[in-house]
Amino acid sequence: MSVFYINGRYVDEAEATVPASDLGVLRGYGIFDYTRTYRGGVPFRLDDHLQRLQRSADLIEMDLPWEPDDLTQVILDTIARNDEPEYEVRIVVTGGANDDHITPQNQPSLMVFARHLEPPPLDWYSEGRALRTTPASRWMPEAKTTNYIAAVMARKAAKAAGAIEALYVSESGHALEGTTTNVFAVRHGRLITPADGILPGVTRQVVLEIAPGLMEVETRPLPLTELLAADEVFITSSSKEVLPIVAIDGQAIGNGRPGRHTLALLNRFREVAHEG
Ligand SMILES: Cc1ncc(COP(=O)(O)O)c(C=O)c1O
Repeated sequence: MSVFYINGRYVDEAEATVPASDLGVLRGYGIFDYTRTYRGGVPFRLDDHLQRLQRSADLIEMDLPWEPDDLTQVILDTIARNDEPEYEVRIVVTGGANDDHITPQNQPSLMVFARHLEPPPLDWYSEGRALRTTPASRWMPEAKTTNYIAAVMARKAAKAAGAIEALYVSESGHALEGTTTNVFAVRHGRLITPADGILPGVTRQVVLEIAPGLMEVETRPLPLTELLAADEVFITSSSKEVLPIVAIDGQAIGNGRPGRHTLALLNRFREVAHEG
């Protein structure tokens, strides 16, 4: 069993609970962030994840009573109380207990989960995987809130259709992002990824930092038609790294195999992650 941090205490996972009247439970008022460790328990780009957590809090007007250094200490202490080779780390802040079931009382709950990391199967990378589109977009997309209702439903439908991820497509027909991933296309050797209406993924950011050495980059709106006509497509996230996508809604992308640009970016990404 993993040891979690919750509101000042380190407890077994099963005891890591919040009051039923927590605004996160009653009203879905909460934010979170997620990263994984490399190099034997070192969280990847933790400062970036904590900055994003602060930005999520600002966007939903939640006051965070902790400095980034306090949060870092709690995260490192939580990891130190566990005994795994590598971890997935989840930092969750919910609105906390309150009197009238709707007004935050500036006492948010803080939870940190450090659990055994189970990376995706190797054949996801050697064979690629499929996406299924869903006609939706996230409310307040730049904030990583705990409202993943559309994501849970879309992911369920995607799985039933043999896909591993659902891709949000806007009313104007633009590919935005996956339920927990960002999306990229490679066309004629150029890398294209949407800039707006998405969560600014930390993995996406790392890809945008390393890509210019390998190819030209365009961050701009990405019509679904253009994505379907791409030579290569991949998705990125902290847990999936750079994952080749070889079909969307049953239609093959490129030659239906993971592309060389995608694999070059995956390799470079892993080098960067393992260098720290
Ligand atoms: C909606 C959404 N987009 C993108 C991402 C990818 O972000 P990151 O690379 O920081 O994990 C996530 C991560 O969970 C997400 O929930």
